[in-house]
This record gives sequence, structure tokens and C-alpha cells, in this order.
Amino acid sequence: MGWKNRLANETQWTSEISNREAKEAVAKRVAALVKDGDTIGVGSGSTSFLAIEQIAKVVKEKRLNITAIPTSHEVALSCARLGLPTASLSAARPDWCFDGADEVDPEFNLIKGRGGAMFAEKLVMASSGKAYILVDGSKFVEKLGAKFPVPVEVDPRAVHLVETKVMEMDVNDIALRMAVEKDGPVITEAGNLILDVTFNHIGMTTEQDLNAIPGVIENGLFINYPVEIMSV
Ligand code: 5RP
Repeated sequence: MGWKNRLANETQWTSEISNREAKEAVAKRVAALVKDGDTIGVGSGSTSFLAIEQIAKVVKEKRLNITAIPTSHEVALSCARLGLPTASLSAARPDWCFDGADEVDPEFNLIKGRGGAMFAEKLVMASSGKAYILVDGSKFVEKLGAKFPVPVEVDPRAVHLVETKVMEMDVNDIALRMAVEKDGPVITEAGNLILDVTFNHIGMTTEQDLNAIPGVIENGLFINYPVEIMSV
């Protein structure tokens, strides 16, 4: 995300987190799993922010050595502020990772990416031995797409092509994600745009169908990932 968004979010996490009590409870549960020597992939969003705070407390209390692999600059800043060493995915492989989600269906398929970090989040999850998804009860849906569109990260040069191709799928709406200040589009950390796509139907191949369009970098569908849902 752009710096303005990241700084807005960093402030947001310290003040107005929705369902904070439930998110904090699940953050404590994941922090209890941390062992000395672990390399841990750290997701983005408010739940992951609370989890990294709890993990930092445990690390300090038990004098553990861990390495965090952040999925965004925002998370890297939080780790630095909390004194947790970080490594990049090109230098280390996570033993396990944790992350939040926007929607979880009954088969534990996910929509992620309200924070726009789904590209790095998917790379870290796919590289991890085990993935914990930390959610409060508001995230469970009967069908993916019930509450949120699917974010699609697109190279700026391909935005019209991708829009045209996505319109040929079973969609209801496509919107270019705008920055909080509405003074321009959200730019991801990789310099790309985000299209928020509202589908009439999301199927088992929708994740791959989107990624097959030239110019699509990644999307926020996580279908059939071997995740363990951690909820309260
Ligand atoms: C960011 C994400 C987040 O994990 C997702 O948006 C959930 O956020 P929160 O924990 O704030 O509810 O996918 O790209």
C-alpha cells in the first residue's frame, strides 16, 4: 500500500479495531504456539497486528529467539517497533505462518486482501509448513463473496485488458480501489492497482481463472489451502 495508507492503518490499529476483544483472544492463542528458533510468517491486518504484539510479549517473557517474515512494510515496521528480527522470503522459509481473513466459508476457503497485501500473503502462506488463519466470528460466511468483493492486483498497464476479461466472467461489479483520502487509486507495495470484483458466483476455478488473465499479479481468493482456522 502507499505510505499514506500504511500510516493511516498503523494509527488505526492502535485505536479503532473492530471486534477487538475476540481478535485479542485469538492473538493470545497463536502467541502460545511460538517456540524458540521459529521462523514465522506474519500476515497483515488488525488481527495479525494484535498477534504480533502478543508474540513479542511471549518472546520477551520467555527470552525466545524468533525470526519474523513480514507480508507488508506495515508489518515490518510493527516488528521493528516491537524488537522482533525480520528476514525476507528470499532469505528464509517460514516454519509456520499466521494471517487474518475477510471471509471464511464452510470448507475454509478464504477471501483476503482488504489491506491490499494478498500477493505477499499468498507467497508466505504457500511457502509455510503450516498456516493459521485468525478470525473473529464475523468472518464466517455461507458463500464466499457474501460480504466482500475479491481484490485483484493488476499491473497498471493491464488494467483495461483485465477489466474487459473479468467482465466476461460471472461478475456483478468491478471497482478500482481508491485511497482512503480518495485523491487517487491505492498503489500496492509492488506498484500495482487493485480491482475489487463482486462476483455473482465464485467457483473452485475462479482463483486460477483470474490469475490466467495477462496482467493479473495475484488475487485474494485462497481456495483449498491447507489452513487451520483459529477462532474464539
Ligand atoms: C490484508 C488481509 C487481512 O488479513 C484481512 O483483511 C483481515 O483483516 P483484519 O484482521 O483487520 O480483520 O487480508 O490484506
